[in-house]
Amino acid sequence: MTSPLLVANWKMNLPPEGIAEFVAALTRLPEGIEVAVAPPFPFLGTFAEEIEGRGARIERAAQNCSDRESGAFTGEVSAAMLRQAGVSHVILGHSERRALFGEDNRLVGRKLRQAIGEGLIPIFCIGEDEETREAGRTAALLERQIVEAAEEMENLPDVLIIAYEPVWAIGTGKNASPEMAAETHAGIRRIVGGISHETELVILYGGSVTPDNAASLAAQEEINGFLVGGASLSSEKFGAIARAMRQMEENQPAEG
Ligand code: PGA
Repeated sequence: MTSPLLVANWKMNLPPEGIAEFVAALTRLPEGIEVAVAPPFPFLGTFAEEIEGRGARIERAAQNCSDRESGAFTGEVSAAMLRQAGVSHVILGHSERRALFGEDNRLVGRKLRQAIGEGLIPIFCIGEDEETREAGRTAALLERQIVEAAEEMENLPDVLIIAYEPVWAIGTGKNASPEMAAETHAGIRRIVGGISHETELVILYGGSVTPDNAASLAAQEEINGFLVGGASLSSEKFGAIARAMRQMEENQPAEG
């Protein structure tokens, strides 16, 4: 069984307190929870030095990777390069990449395939916008995001990490209610179950997770962890979210 997972997405930011101070404050994270941090590419090395130097139990994640293996693709970073640099996880299909950089479901699927092929653990982000939620079309949209991406992948991995991030909740201070998130996660489980019965599914919730709402979200059995943006830039807030997740150890992710 996979442990509950907490992922920090720093986006194009650094913690105001500094990377060294951030890591120093998080050397004693609760047991039984896996923690990964995704700094911007140029800071993956500095981050690695800090966690090694301080013996912090934090994995390194990237925020993106290319769908290509290597070659003349200026500005791209391959999954193999991330692997060589000691990165374990990669966030793919984040709604900002979809909305601002034109990534569609099939491109996200090809990136997932590259990442899995190189032994990285992808964090596959999906989620609906406000209009879709209000029109009652959330399930259909999530299904398309999953199915079209899966069509570009050879096989689903043994363990698939999906981050459900409603676009209207990202960076807005408006989180999905624990019940709404749990219900949507159950729907995602049904969709993935329709594609593969062998895949163990870990579903993170993302979108305005804070120390104030983390415990009530974590109490939902369907929620197996969090992907955190804004609140992950403060070691104090991020550490508080990690502590709020302790109860999740009992919430074992079910088979997909
Ligand atoms: P947020 O961002 O926590 O600031 O809402 C989440 C994300 O974009 O992954």
